[in-house]
Amino acid sequence: MMMRAVVKGIGHYLPERIVENAEFEATLDTNDEWIRSRSGIERRHFAGEGETTSTMATAAAKKALAMAGLEADDIDAVIVATSTADLTFPSAATMVQAQLGMKSGFAFDIQAVCAGFIFALSNANALILSGQARRVLVIGAETFSRIMDWTDRSTCVLFGDGAGALVLEADEGNGTSDDRGILSTDLNSDGTHRDLLYVDGGSSTGTTGYLRMQGNQVFRHAVEKLSKTATTAMETAGISSEDVDWIVPHQANIRIIQGTAKKLGLSMDKVVVTVQDHGNTSAASIPLALSVGVERGQIKPGDLVVTEAIGGGLAWGAVVLRW
Ligand code: UT7
Repeated sequence: MMMRAVVKGIGHYLPERIVENAEFEATLDTNDEWIRSRSGIERRHFAGEGETTSTMATAAAKKALAMAGLEADDIDAVIVATSTADLTFPSAATMVQAQLGMKSGFAFDIQAVCAGFIFALSNANALILSGQARRVLVIGAETFSRIMDWTDRSTCVLFGDGAGALVLEADEGNGTSDDRGILSTDLNSDGTHRDLLYVDGGSSTGTTGYLRMQGNQVFRHAVEKLSKTATTAMETAGISSEDVDWIVPHQANIRIIQGTAKKLGLSMDKVVVTVQDHGNTSAASIPLALSVGVERGQIKPGDLVVTEAIGGGLAWGAVVLRW
């Protein structure tokens, strides 16, 4: 017997406003063809007035709770992975807790930029395995449209807003890779790459700041680090790439997604791809892709899912789970 953190429900929220690549042509020296061919992005959603990271997170959480057949008060902990919390503090997670009307439990944010949801899943798993929580709401939510420099064509065309949430619950498994739930996690970071991807504001400047990225430098690290972390997590779980039903990668760039799948020896038929419709939603991208993958009928109960991400820090990691 072994405790496992099993997914009981999932849901997502995307803001109503959809911005097609061509819209940027009016204000920037860019075009649909460049954005599409270099990144795979065709459109993205931008939050509307009054919409924030916490309101989108709450909307996604309500759907995940409904699928799980649970009420907010059944949840012991809320973790929000985000780099764009509504305010510097308190955490977006405590705002979600209040918006859900929760009267108990605890809530906190995790900040590992685009890898945030991987770090959040791993922490939620640890809370469940150590008995500190039985049911955890794990959310990835971002409003990157609010930290864009709209004059920088090399970044502002790439990112989008949205939220995805899932409910993890403690369940008994037999300790093998046939168990449902999280089977392994692998987390990494290397702070020496700070300047490749950062926001130039915070407590040191007294401003919110804008995202700055040396995209081609981040790209150079991505495929190698992602395939390595996914391989490590698969080894820990005792599975090989032939066992994998779905790769659900961080959705930053279709070329990174393709390169990583190839390195792992997996065909693109086994990859959930949403980057064309969402752009890069940072910590929200994986739960959004998981939720859309379930909605499309791609991910089904019992499927073996490998999920991986890299982003600012650099921080990167992977989680292997059976749906
Ligand atoms: O999610 C967190 C992790 N982030 C990522 O994974 C992002 C990783 N990086 C990428 O996805 C890619 O590097 C980008 C999509 C950001 C860029 O693609 P690239 O093939 O690496 O292009 P590049 O940055 O080397 O730029 C190529 C050219 C440059 O012009 P020159 O110097 O060759 O004349 C850029 O100035 O493309 C130019 N460029 C643009 N042209 C039209 C940059 N942005 C644009 C644009 N429209 N929006």
